[in-house]
Amino acid sequence: MGTSIRRFTKGSDNNDTKSQGANSKLEKTAAADTKVPVVSFEDGKRVEKAISAQPAVVPATLGDAKKVAMPLDKTLVERLTPTMRKFLLVGKTVVVTGGARGLGFNMAQAMAEVGAKGIAIIDQKRDIGVPAAEELSAQTGVDVRFYEVDIRDSAQIAGAVKDIKDHYGQIDVLINSAGIADSNIPAETYEDDMWEKTIDINLNGAFKIGREVARSMINNKNPGSFVYVASMSGSIVNYPQEQSCYNASKAGVVHLVHSLAAEWAKYNIRVNSISPGYMDTALNRVPALDAQKKIWIDQTPQRRLGNVDELNNLAVFLASDASSYMTGANCIIDGGYCLY
Ligand SMILES: NC(=O)c1ccc[n+]([C@@H]2O[C@H](COP(=O)([O-])OP(=O)(O)OC[C@H]3O[C@@H](n4cnc5c(N)ncnc54)[C@H](O)[C@@H]3O)[C@@H](O)[C@H]2O)c1
Repeated sequence: MGTSIRRFTKGSDNNDTKSQGANSKLEKTAAADTKVPVVSFEDGKRVEKAISAQPAVVPATLGDAKKVAMPLDKTLVERLTPTMRKFLLVGKTVVVTGGARGLGFNMAQAMAEVGAKGIAIIDQKRDIGVPAAEELSAQTGVDVRFYEVDIRDSAQIAGAVKDIKDHYGQIDVLINSAGIADSNIPAETYEDDMWEKTIDINLNGAFKIGREVARSMINNKNPGSFVYVASMSGSIVNYPQEQSCYNASKAGVVHLVHSLAAEWAKYNIRVNSISPGYMDTALNRVPALDAQKKIWIDQTPQRRLGNVDELNNLAVFLASDASSYMTGANCIIDGGYCLY
């Protein structure tokens, strides 16, 4: 299977699909895919071109993917017990927002390992999204596509979701991991534009992508599972950093999940959220947070940050039929932080 890179940036040049550098171990496999269809929507008009892909390279930001994903050996499936089989996503198509790096990329790897036939990575960062998609495809042989989309933009989302459905047939799972964090900003000093940006990505974007994927599932009459990445900050107030906007945005996501789960159960769409505690991703690897990190660890019973792949198994559980009677749940996974 190949990798496709698709752009949905209004009025942008869609000819540039070059990836960076040249030192991936899997470079040869990824480079075997020479023609990449690139789609953009310019003034609402869909434009598709076949572009020669350059070798995939893993940028430093992808370095927090701790492992190389393995494809599922299909001969194993028949030997699994019925209980184990329910955890598989064989033949399913998964959309992962924020999948260019971090928790999203790791969950995309997990989806491939449990047999997904197709994975669409949606992210606004093409420079890391293209090599991420190429890398995942090379690792697993899964049909991975990259969509350059800002989840704040309904038109871009609509173009991407239609394209994903046209290509794969239907969408079965949405993992919404795209998000940003603002911290160490006292509430009384917040500027309107800073506040609005975080709410716009973390909450409004979460709604917009969910609405469009649900429309696709409802029109197609196929069941589905949504996994929203919220945060423990949606349930508790972090200490010592002041971050009212992030906390409010994630509390919004948690209750959005409750609401969507109640509304869309009639369409066989399940909606759940994962609320991570402090995870060891690029989001937290900034020198300004070093001193605070010591406090976070001290307040975490397991005495460490979560590894970047430690949401994977919960994401698989929620995405798959293993959780078929579960909807509207918010699952906190935080090394025990919320216990104190
Ligand atoms: N890292 C943590 O400690 C932690 C804890 C709790 C919750 N979370 C949540 O988990 C999610 C993933 O976090 P991460 O640590 O992997 O972060 P990350 O910054 O490594 O990855 C987030 C990805 O989302 C993408 N993104 C941001 N805004 C976007 C937009 N408008 N449209 C499309 N893509 C966009 C980014 O380009 C990036 O690739 C976020 O929602 C975050 O709030 C993280």
